[in-house]
Amino acid sequence: MRKNIVAGNWKMNNNLQEGLKLAKDLEAALVGKKVNCDVVIGTPFIHLAPVAAAIDTTKIGVAAQNCADKASGAYTGEVSAAMVASTGAKYVILGHSERRAYYGETDAILKEKVLLALANGLTPIFCVGEVLEEREANKQDEIVNSQIKNALFNLSAEEFGKIVIAYEPVWAIGTGKTATSEQAQEMHAFIRGVLAAKYGEKVADETSILYGGSCNAANAKELFDNPDVDGGLIGGASLGVDKFMPIIEAF
Ligand code: PGA
Repeated sequence: MRKNIVAGNWKMNNNLQEGLKLAKDLEAALVGKKVNCDVVIGTPFIHLAPVAAAIDTTKIGVAAQNCADKASGAYTGEVSAAMVASTGAKYVILGHSERRAYYGETDAILKEKVLLALANGLTPIFCVGEVLEEREANKQDEIVNSQIKNALFNLSAEEFGKIVIAYEPVWAIGTGKTATSEQAQEMHAFIRGVLAAKYGEKVADETSILYGGSCNAANAKELFDNPDVDGGLIGGASLGVDKFMPIIEAF
């Protein structure tokens, strides 16, 4: 059966001390709680090793928010998938709309990043989603289909079995404007259909598809109650234990 996952994406927030505190506070809040999902936190690169050392990563998985599209070498300022894996992180968020929009990440670049992440034993949390104009032109299915096809459909079924998808409508990210439960379910079912057509029902059925975009304590349960919504990728509401815990507990 596929896993339910609630993953935080801290983005470029929290210095090292603040990040360590947040991770430890979250771990403390989870003690004695029976949670029905995997919990992940996506930290800045420099936090990965100290955070992974400070907490039990079998209880809270640690994710990078990016990795390089090259294995190693003269790429000043970049961080490779192997380096991420060496910190104790188990996941990497790839293709976030902020990386696509502000750092020019294309499907072709993301394809390389996914391969390197998998080669280094990391689980990619691969983000897809349409911008507002595309939604208004009813092109969301076409856009999401091409993002998945162009960056992931070179993978074998076995490789694809290691991918987590996050559907994040760009118009809902950080805007307070969440997709409705129906919009989320509709897109998640569409994505599962795209995966089934390529890799078969079993792989599609076992792929966790997370929703992201202004997901919070008030709307998480309604979103997660949908049959094809297997959790969330949470930005703003992952920056405080008081806001993140109720989302985890929505399962
Ligand atoms: P948000 O961000 O929850 O703050 O909207 C989600 C994301 O970008 O992953």
